[in-house]
Amino acid sequence: MTTKITHYTSAFEKEVAQGLTSFPKSLSSKYFYDEKGDKLFQDIMAMPTYYLTDAEFEIFSTQKEEICNAFYGNQGFDLIELGAGDGKKTKILLNYFSEKGIDFTYLPIDISQNVLDGLKESVEREIPGVKIKPQQGTYFEVLEGLVNYNSRKKVIMVLGSNIGNLLHQKAIQFLANIQKGMNTDDVLFMGFDQKKNPQTILNAYNDPEGITAAFNKNILHRINRELEANFNVDQFLHWEVYDPESGTAKSYLVSKTEQEVHINKLQLNIHFSPWETIHTEISQKYDDDVVSWLAEEAGLKIINQYTDSNQYYKNYLFAKR
Ligand code: AVI
Repeated sequence: MTTKITHYTSAFEKEVAQGLTSFPKSLSSKYFYDEKGDKLFQDIMAMPTYYLTDAEFEIFSTQKEEICNAFYGNQGFDLIELGAGDGKKTKILLNYFSEKGIDFTYLPIDISQNVLDGLKESVEREIPGVKIKPQQGTYFEVLEGLVNYNSRKKVIMVLGSNIGNLLHQKAIQFLANIQKGMNTDDVLFMGFDQKKNPQTILNAYNDPEGITAAFNKNILHRINRELEANFNVDQFLHWEVYDPESGTAKSYLVSKTEQEVHINKLQLNIHFSPWETIHTEISQKYDDDVVSWLAEEAGLKIINQYTDSNQYYKNYLFAKR
């Protein structure tokens, strides 16, 4: 006889158990990012169809002067980047600020110490003289500590439309948490992918090389490895849909056949009917009205915006209302 586990040793265990025993089934995209998932996401960002990266790169390259003017405070500023990653886009700004002799400190924040070590090493090598103080932690821990950065103007930066992986209510909570740590002079600079031709969006999440499919399916490999499960990953299909009305792109894993999966660490057997789905990710697309509404609900206001030549993507600048 198997007994149902009620005490989980990690949030991953708990969320996997809950998600796969619910109807419809779901898994959180935050679990895509193990070592393999990080590498696959780097590959996605290099794909020409994943236009988000190029668009934000173009905004930074062509509008760095305006962005710099918006960031500047009379005693310089602290640039706090949440989810810094490899800092490829940020380095365009760091280079420019450094050339202009601007007084700033760069505080990249990431969950991975490895990522931060690599970033510190590359910034110090490529842009000597930049003051960099990496902080390791989750968004949540770091947001709590934000209130303590009070010596001068804070610029909080979140790039890559990361907010798009949150449903609107969670996005509002996230913005409101940032807002709580801001003073009146501080600004938030955040990337939001825009609504556009639905085909362009589908192409970004449905590449013919199958990199996005591998990224989506990586969560099953992770469950196999970390929770001793026996998912036959080839028996699942990556499927992307986009609703141009709501602006929501959704990723699914679809079971190609009737199958049973055993997850040893959770003492769970999961049954899949043919073509049953696991919802894994949302990638929300926005317009100005929706961004204004999110900002208002979170006690923020838009004070400026920067877009690329295709108007595919926007970085908005917010201040406290
Ligand atoms: C990290 N995040 C904003 C990406 C996105 O566009 O939703 C993750 C991703 N999923 C599939 N491709 C990229």
